[in-house]
Formats: sequence, structure tokens, C-alpha cells
Amino acid sequence: GYPHFMLKEIYEQPEAFSKTVVPHVKDGLPSFERDEIPEGFFEKRRHIQIVACGTAMYAGTVGKNLIERFARIPVSVDVASEYRYNDPIVGPGDLVIVISQSGETADTLAALRLAKQKGADTLGIINVIGSSIAREADHVIYTHAGPEIAVASTKAFTVQMAVMFPLALELALKNGTVQPEACRELTSQLLKCRDAMEQALELTKTIPAIVEQAIDSPSLFYIGRGLDHALALEGSLKLKELSYLHSEAYAAGELKHGPISLITDGMPVIALATQQAVLPKTVSNMKEVKARGAKTLLICRHGETVDADAYDYRIDLPEAEDAFMPFTAAVAMQLIAYYKAVQSGCDVDKPRNLAKSVTVE
Ligand code: AGP
Repeated sequence: GYPHFMLKEIYEQPEAFSKTVVPHVKDGLPSFERDEIPEGFFEKRRHIQIVACGTAMYAGTVGKNLIERFARIPVSVDVASEYRYNDPIVGPGDLVIVISQSGETADTLAALRLAKQKGADTLGIINVIGSSIAREADHVIYTHAGPEIAVASTKAFTVQMAVMFPLALELALKNGTVQPEACRELTSQLLKCRDAMEQALELTKTIPAIVEQAIDSPSLFYIGRGLDHALALEGSLKLKELSYLHSEAYAAGELKHGPISLITDGMPVIALATQQAVLPKTVSNMKEVKARGAKTLLICRHGETVDADAYDYRIDLPEAEDAFMPFTAAVAMQLIAYYKAVQSGCDVDKPRNLAKSVTVE
């Protein structure tokens, strides 16, 4: 019923989200009973490392933001291919979380083995049951995206982000930084994200025309702050792998430190501005690039008041609290990349030079 697996998988996200999140919430609180993670595993964690590749690593970046926000535990995120050769400082008592859709990515598997060898406790967030990483990690939280056929990861990404909520909240409860009542409120907001993603799928009606007009250059930027920066990185990766355009993602505040020199007349800049706390800052970055000739596409929550002179195009996302905006932002990012690739005649499901699972270095 869909022209491409990727579009089908984008549409499967609300269901995959529920299948992953609902079993991890019990009486409004996080639950890992089903994963048989022992009581106490999340207690007294002082430092957490997240290791993964590509899109899974960007889900890990969202996870870092959530764990630090709710549990106030410092988290580092590493690319697995770097981690494995950088003699990481990790040992007993540390928690290393590896994230992988396939559970077979060679670098992520090697990073897991190294962390285990150094005595860390390891947790895999994995989509494929019985995969190598799932077998070797001390404990596994399975995501329930179902099989992902398109090379570009979509539903696996949203469920990886989704699982980060119960995980961050469990750590927060154990650390005493979030109380059960506040936690119940947060999980109820989380559960509403399914409907928000359903609503965001309506963007299939408007995004194709916006993409056609807004992305008409071989080179472009994505910018954002905080969670929006993580989503900008993911959006940029998705666009470059599918449509072969040169795209850079930057923390919006970094533009002035170099990349703004690349802004020329008509260069598209896609600005994610879903985080209310930093919205004025991102808007001011948009005005800076616009003053230098950029064509800006703003992605923000519905009803947000933003000076009309900051953007040329605008995509509105269903309203949610800042922490929950990545789900609908991800849908928008995926649809932008999907429609650009379709309009350019690219092989959406099997982009050149890429494999679904990278089992060699
Ligand atoms: C994303 O669209 C990619 N196909 C790629 O970055 C992927 O997420 C990465 O190779 C990691 O794969 P994994 O989740 O199976 O470990």
C-alpha cells in the first residue's frame, strides 16, 4: 500500500511507539520487569556512557539530554568506532548503554566487548531479538519497531528515543531527582506522544510542496539547540543518505564560530526550534543567516509566536512539552528527507553505497 518501505515504516511509528513504551510503564511509573533487569541495576549510577553508530547514536544523544535533565547523572555519548580505539575510561560501577537496531553493528559490538572487559555493567537497547549484541550485553531492553527494511532508519530511531524516557525516569527515581507523582505526570505526557505522531503524519500533505521550494540547492544547513541539535543531526544524516545533498548540522550557537561564512544567497537553512527555553536564541540565529541571504525553514510547535521576518517557510508540529517534541520533530525530519529523495529520483529504500547493517569495520 506504500510506494516505498521507508514511507510505510514512517507510518508504522505510532504503533511501534506504543508497543515499546506501554510495556515499560506500570501504574504510571517506569517498569523493566519484562526485561528481567534486576532491582538495583539502576541504583547509585554516577556516570553513564552511551555508545552507538549513526542514527542510533543520535537517539543516544537524545537519551543523554533526558538522563541529565531528569536524573542529573552525567552521560557521555560516543561513536562506537572511536570509543573502541580510544582506551575509554570506564570500569566497575559504570553503566555502558549500547544502542543498535540490528544488534549486529561491528563497531558497537566491539565497544560492548571492551566495556565488559573493563568491568562495566552493560545494557543493550536492541530491536532484533537474539542478535549478537543482545546475546552479549549483561541486560537488554528490546525496542519493538518490528523489522525495518529501508536502509534509512525511521521507526527504530523513534522507539530508541522512546525507551530513553522510562530509562531516564527510572534513574531519576532511584537518584531521588524526580518524585513518583511528577514521574506519573511525565509518563502520561509520554503516552500522548503516540497521538502527536499520528497528527504529525498529516504533514505528508504539506511537506512535499515545502521541500520542493525550500530545498533547491546542493548544500544546506540544519541548526538547533539542545534536543533540537540532536534532531538536526539526525535530519541532516537522513537527508544526505537519501538524497545525496551536502548537508551540515550545527548547534545553532556555533554558526558564528566558522560555518556562517558558508552562508550564501539562497542557501537553505532548516531550523528546529521546538525547545521553548532557547527559542529566542534560535530565532535570532535564523535572523543572522537570513540577513546573509539564507532561505530559512522553521520547524516549531503549533501556535508558537515567531517573528515572520525570521523564516521563509514554516512547519508546525503538534504541541507538547519540550522534552516530548523530538517524536514529532523526527517525523518531520524523515518526511523532508523522504520527499526530497523522491523528488530527486533517488532510490529511497536502497541508497547508494549503504548497507542496512554494518557488520564490518
Ligand atoms: C541511519 O539511517 C543509518 N542507516 C545508520 O546510521 C544506522 O543507524 C547505523 O548504521 C547503526 O545501525 P544499528 O542501529 O543497526 O547499529
